[in-house]
Parts: sequence; C-alpha cells; structure tokens
Amino acid sequence: MTILVTGGAGFIGSNFVLDWLAKSDETVVNLDKLSYAGNLQNLSSLEKDSRHLFVKGDIGDATLVAELLVRHQPRAIVNFAAESHVDRSIHGPGEFVQNNIVGTYQLLESVRSYWSPLPAPAKSNFRFLHVSTDEVFGSLDKSAPAFTERHAIEPNSPYSASKAASDHLVRAWHHTYGLPVLTTHCSNNYGPYHFPEKLIPLVIVNALAGKTLPVYGDGQQIRDWLYVKDHCSAIARVLEAGQVGTTYNIGGWNEKANLDIVRNICSLLDTLKPRSDGKPYQDQIAFVTDRPGHDRRYAIDARKIEQELGWKPAESFETGIAKTVQWYLSNQDWVANVQSGAYRDWVQTQYGAPAAEEASPVAA
Ligand code: NAD
Ligand code: TYD
Repeated sequence: MTILVTGGAGFIGSNFVLDWLAKSDETVVNLDKLSYAGNLQNLSSLEKDSRHLFVKGDIGDATLVAELLVRHQPRAIVNFAAESHVDRSIHGPGEFVQNNIVGTYQLLESVRSYWSPLPAPAKSNFRFLHVSTDEVFGSLDKSAPAFTERHAIEPNSPYSASKAASDHLVRAWHHTYGLPVLTTHCSNNYGPYHFPEKLIPLVIVNALAGKTLPVYGDGQQIRDWLYVKDHCSAIARVLEAGQVGTTYNIGGWNEKANLDIVRNICSLLDTLKPRSDGKPYQDQIAFVTDRPGHDRRYAIDARKIEQELGWKPAESFETGIAKTVQWYLSNQDWVANVQSGAYRDWVQTQYGAPAAEEASPVAA
C-alpha cells in the first residue's frame, strides 16, 4: 500500500512523513515543489529508505500528478502543499491564490481522473485528506466560545482566504463527484523543522543570535498552540477513521497571548543557554508595527475529534515548548542552512532591517 503526501518537505509535512514511516511500512510518495519553505534536509534520515520516494514537482502539474497516481496507485492523498505564511500573503497574495486555490483545484481534478474509474472496493476506500487551518474561521472576541466545526467561514487574510477557498473546492468535489474527502482545521503548530519566519522559531533563533524579538502591536493576540507531532497523529487518526465528507478541528486547548509565548521562550533560554553577558533574553523584546488586519484570537474546540475518534494530544504546551527550544539548540546547523539568501531577503522585506541586525532592547 502507498500514500501520496504533498508538501511533505515543509514543516508539518516532513514531520508527518517521518512519524508515518516510524510507525508503518506503507510507502510514502512525497510530492513537493521545494519552495523556500521546502527543505529536504528535514528528511535526510530517510535518504536510504526505499519506503520514501521524493518527487520534486507542483501539485498543479497535471501531467506529473497523473503519472504519479497511475504508477503508484496510492490508497490516499494527504495534501499539505500550500503557501503558509500570513505576512508573506499580505506582501504577495498572488502566490497564495496560485498555489493554494488553483493548485488544489488542479490536484483535485487529477485525483478525480485517477479515482473515478477505480474498481470497488479501492474506489470507496480511497481518501483525499485536505490539511487546512483554524484561520479560515476568522477572529474571535475575547470571551467567545472556541471554533467548532460549524463555525462560519470568515477568513481575514489573503492566506486564510486562499485556504478557505481550497476547503470549499474540496467540499464541492465530494458533494458533486463523490470524491471521498476529509478536511482538518488545526490551530497553530510548533516544533522541529519550523521555518524561522513564524513566531516561535523566529524568537528562538533571533534570541540566540542576539537580535531583536519582534512582537507585533501589543502582543496580546491569542493563538491556540499544538505540538506538530500531535497534529500529525491527529491527521493519521482522521485518515484511518474519519467520517468521509466531514471536517475535524484539531487543537490542544492551549490558548496563549503572543507576548507570553515570547517571554516563555526567553525564560527557557535563560536556563538552557544563558546570555554571555548574564542579562535576560527578554531585554531583546521589541514592540513593532502591527500586522494589517491582524486576527485577535483563535481557539479550537477539539471535542469532536476527541469524542468521535478518541484522539488526544500527547504534549502539553509546557512539554512541547521545552522540546522545541531544545531541538533548536541541538540543531544549529539546520538553522544556519535555512537562513540562505531567500530567507534573508524576506527578513529585509518584512522587518526593514538587515538580517544581521543587532539587538535593540525595548522594555517588555
Ligand atoms: P510550510 O510552508 O512549512 O510547507 C509547505 C510545503 O508545501 C513546502 O515544502 C512547499 O515547498 C510545498 N508547496 C507549496 N506549494 C506547493 C505546490 N504548488 N506544489 C507542491 N508543493 C508545494 O507549511 P506548513 O506549516 O508545513 O503547513 C502545511 C499545511 O498545513 C498547509 O496547508 C497549512 O495551511 C496547514 N496548516 C499549517 C499550520 C501551521 O501552524 N503551520 C496550522 C494549520 C494548518
Ligand atoms: P505566525 O507564527 O506568523 O502564525 P499565524 O499568523 O499563522 O498565527 O504568527 C503567530 C502570532 O505571532 C501572530 O499573532 C503574529 C505574531 N507575530 C509577532 O508578533 N511577531 C513576529 O515576528 C511574527 C512572525 C508573528
């Protein structure tokens, strides 16, 4: 048996592939176009593993995808491939429309051509699992209940709008053509192999490099954090037992304000890798201009997946963040390698300062 994973060289996709092959002998065909966020170094432990077949290519390449499907006859597809960074979507929404919306449409059409003539029971057993985000639900007021699967879809950023559009296409391909789909909406992930443009890895990497720790606006925006390996186990569980044509919210009931996250990382680093001048890492915090249209709060109600599928996260935020900080301390080579030219250009665009900028401490 074989599964096709798309976007499997990115942050969550590579963790998924590694975890999948640690638990199963089922071959993974991994299709990834290796954008700036795709990194084959994440999968270097699988270099000689015949159960992992990496293919560099775009989900929108119908000829390539058709050929892969016919050759490998996967029983399931897990679609991680997407542009994923909100700030980048604000600077350049076109890539998000192309990869997340048009790309998903083209992938769905390629999959439909492969799936339609499959004989029973391969046809009914087939699954297309689409990995989406809680950001499609928009922003919550402070006291509003967490997002359930029935919450209105109210995306606010070009990123979340593009993900919502792709979710709608996936839903329509089920209702119109009968494609056996599953969609998951997960909260913010963190953990190993997280590209240091997102809050948690950026703060760890900048802190260690003596750079500023940029907090947007007042830092009181709330995100609901889940350790990436818990997201991966939830996806595997939904693939195994999820009800076709439905959606599952995935989260770990870990709402935290951004400033608290940054302070938490600083105090872990104070213990694990104290600054040479003996000062606290919090001195590096700098409040910077807020993100346009910044969503104030996300929170996931994970009762459906817990009750229907018996899934629960293995990590608390405290254990997950400690593992994550330790991983970055132990994998400085990985960090150095991803901080290539493309990454440095992005830092310049977003923060308007050279990547090698020194810390300019601002009281937190
Ligand atoms: P990422 O940016 O780290 O990785 C995305 C991967 O997809 C990269 O390897 C990239 O090369 C690949 N890719 C992009 N467009 C492609 C295309 N057209 N064809 C083939 N490959 C392509 O993203 P991530 O954080 O790992 O997120 C993976 C998925 O999970 C995304 O769909 C994202 O919306 C969703 N998600 C992410 C989070 C999070 O906190 N990071 C939370 C919930 C859901
Ligand atoms: P991010 O990791 O980009 O994820 P998302 O926007 O998908 O939630 O950002 C997490 C939160 O941290 C978000 O509220 C924006 C904020 N943030 C900062 O305050 N400073 C930063 O430098 C970054 C990248 C994010």
